This record gives sequence, structure tokens and C-alpha cells, in this order.
Amino acid sequence: MIPLLFRIFDAEYSNLRPNLRVGAIMNNQLDQNELEAFSGNLFGHTVGAITIACVEMARRLGFYEHLSSRPAMSADALSALANTNPRLTRELLDQQVSGGILTYDQKSDEYALSAEGAAVIADQHSPAWMMGAVMATCAMYLGHDKVESAFRGNGGMPWGDHAPCLFCGTGEFFRPVYEHALIQQFMPALSGGEDRFSTGAVVADIGCGGGVSTLTLASAYPQSRFVGLDFHAPSIAEANESAAEKGLSNAEFAVASAKDYSGEYDLICFFDCLHDMGDPVGIARYAKDHLKPDGSIMLIEPFAFDSRIQNHKGLGAAFFGFSSFFCVPCSLSQEVGRGMGSQAGEAGMRSVFEEAGFDNFRRIAETPNNIVYEVTP
Ligand SMILES: C[S@@+](CC[C@H](N)C(=O)[O-])C[C@H]1O[C@@H](n2cnc3c(N)ncnc32)[C@H](O)[C@@H]1O
Repeated sequence: MIPLLFRIFDAEYSNLRPNLRVGAIMNNQLDQNELEAFSGNLFGHTVGAITIACVEMARRLGFYEHLSSRPAMSADALSALANTNPRLTRELLDQQVSGGILTYDQKSDEYALSAEGAAVIADQHSPAWMMGAVMATCAMYLGHDKVESAFRGNGGMPWGDHAPCLFCGTGEFFRPVYEHALIQQFMPALSGGEDRFSTGAVVADIGCGGGVSTLTLASAYPQSRFVGLDFHAPSIAEANESAAEKGLSNAEFAVASAKDYSGEYDLICFFDCLHDMGDPVGIARYAKDHLKPDGSIMLIEPFAFDSRIQNHKGLGAAFFGFSSFFCVPCSLSQEVGRGMGSQAGEAGMRSVFEEAGFDNFRRIAETPNNIVYEVTP
């Protein structure tokens, strides 16, 4: 039996499947167009959620790597290469074609990933790489029980209590911006320019996660020293592994909270993490005490407008979603528990630094996903 929902959502497929109008099923006073629009919207999200689960499975199995290395291949050839069950492989490939991820040639019975698709889904270092969003989305599903407890309790859920795919997902989510904009666009936009980093500066990257940003900086400025700190030990272990793999001796990592480090720095970075912290004002104040006299803070935050209704449009569904599962619970699990959320915008961030005693706060760059600020005392 076909569930009601599938019969209702027929706008796109009405020429392919029997079309049973909602009105014929729901004999009531509801506005039929509104009903169909609402159910169509929800069904679209459902198809997206199903496809994301399948994309993550294909990624784990290495399907995209194999598919991107050849023009096309049969399901059996792929299953032989990936060492996966042939019947399940065929089924997942058909889902991927139905979801618009792969193409299928009926004559040759082969599946293919386009070059553009490979840039988004198979090449970790491409500026278009998007698998981080997929992994982080899967962490939402895996965390449902614990996040539900947070909603029913005090709202707090520590970062480290999430499924591990959140930690690598976060690193991969931000990788394109660090690898393709941090050195090229953000560092030169600092008021002192980037000269000081070529002559031996000391930089702290607070809340560095798996260290993608720290290592990107360390390899671009070999004369400077970079210290990555995060209170999540598994992320710091991953950062240390990546530093060793890259042979970068000017980057070091330590497990530490954002209010527990020593030394004086030319630059202190908070990359997509300050809003996750419980006490951003105390943490900004602590950073102020650890800046050299001409030092500055670089703050990268998710893109947001200052108005709630503007944030409801565009990327709001993604940012508010991540924020309600990850960012706000993380902040509420810490002392003070300011719970800024990822959509605090420039006004929210400016007020944090004003409360912490900084005089200068300015936007120096932005991308579709991020805003970059420089803050000085
Ligand atoms: C969204 S992730 C961003 C990680 C990294 N900066 C990046 O861009 O990939 C937020 C990070 O902040 C860290 N974090 C949250 N609160 C912290 C605190 N009070 N002290 C240190 N790290 C903290 C988390 O462990 C997590 O790695």
C-alpha cells in the first residue's frame, strides 16, 4: 500500500504516477492548494534527508572515490572495487541516480559521477567540497536521544557528547573556506596586513577543533609559530596526527579551555567557535589579557543578518538547525551559558567584545557562509 503522503506529493511526478488529489482523500474545509504546498515542501525535505543518509553511506564505502576515477562503471564493477555487496551496491546507486547525484546510462548499464559532482562530493580540497555538511547533518540524526534530553532539561549538551561524525564533519564543513579564503582573503584584510606573519609572529587558534585552520596558517607562514587549543581531546589528537602527517613543526596543539592558556600573541583566532562557548565575554576578556600591545583578534562567525526575519530566509534552515542541535546546547553546557547561537550576527558579536572592553570591532571580509571581523583593544 502506498502511504498517503506519497499520493499527496504528486506535483512533480503526476505524469509518472497515478495522481490522487488531496481533496479526494481529505473531505474537509482545508485549503487544498495550501495543503498540497505544505506537504510538497515537507516531502521535499524528506527526500533530501533520505538522500543525505545515502550520500553518507556512499562516502563511507568509498563509492565516490572510485566513481570519480573513471568515466563510468557498472554496479558490479563498483562493488568489486569497493568490496561491497553487489545487490546493496546496485540499490544505493539507483537511489543516487534518483536523487540527482549520479547519472545512469541504460545502454551500457553504467553509473557516472560528473566532474562537477566530483568537485563537490569526492575532492576534499576543492573549494566546492560539501561533504562536511553531510557528515554534520548525519550527526544530528545520531544525536537525537541526547539532544532531546537537552531540550527537556537545562538545554546543555557538551560538544564531546555528539557522534564522532560531527567532529570530522565540522572540520570538513569549514575546510573550503580555510583552504581557499583564509590566506588569500582574510589574512591580508587585517589592518596590519600579513607582513608580520612572514617575520615570526605567534598566533593562537582557540577552539581549533581538528586544526584545519591552524595547519593552513602554519603552512602558509613557516616563519611564525601557531598554537591550536581546544577542550575536546579527540579533536586535538586528530590535529596532532595531521600536523605530523604534514611535517609541520611550527604548529603545536594542546587540550585546553578558551580561558586556560598562557603567553602573549600577535593574533588570537576564534574561528566558527566563539558562539559555541558558554562565556564569550569572559573568553574575549581573557584573550585581551593575552594579546601583545599591537596584537589583534580575528573572529570568523557563520554568516548572519542582524534581523531574525532576514535570517529565517536563505540559509536559516541549515544554520538554525545546526545551532539548535550543536551550538546552543554546547554553550548552555558551560559556565555562564550565554547561548548566543550561530545567528547572533554582527550586532550580537559586537556587543560581546564591547562588554569585554574592546574599542575596535570591524567587519573585514565575508563569504556566503561566513563573516570575518578584526577586533583590537
Ligand atoms: C564548530 S567547532 C569549530 C572548530 C574549528 N574552529 C573549525 O573551524 O573547524 C567549535 C569548537 O569549539 C570548541 N569549544 C567549545 N567551547 C570551548 C571552550 N570553552 N574552550 C575550548 N574549546 C571550546 C569545540 O570543542 C569545537 O571544537
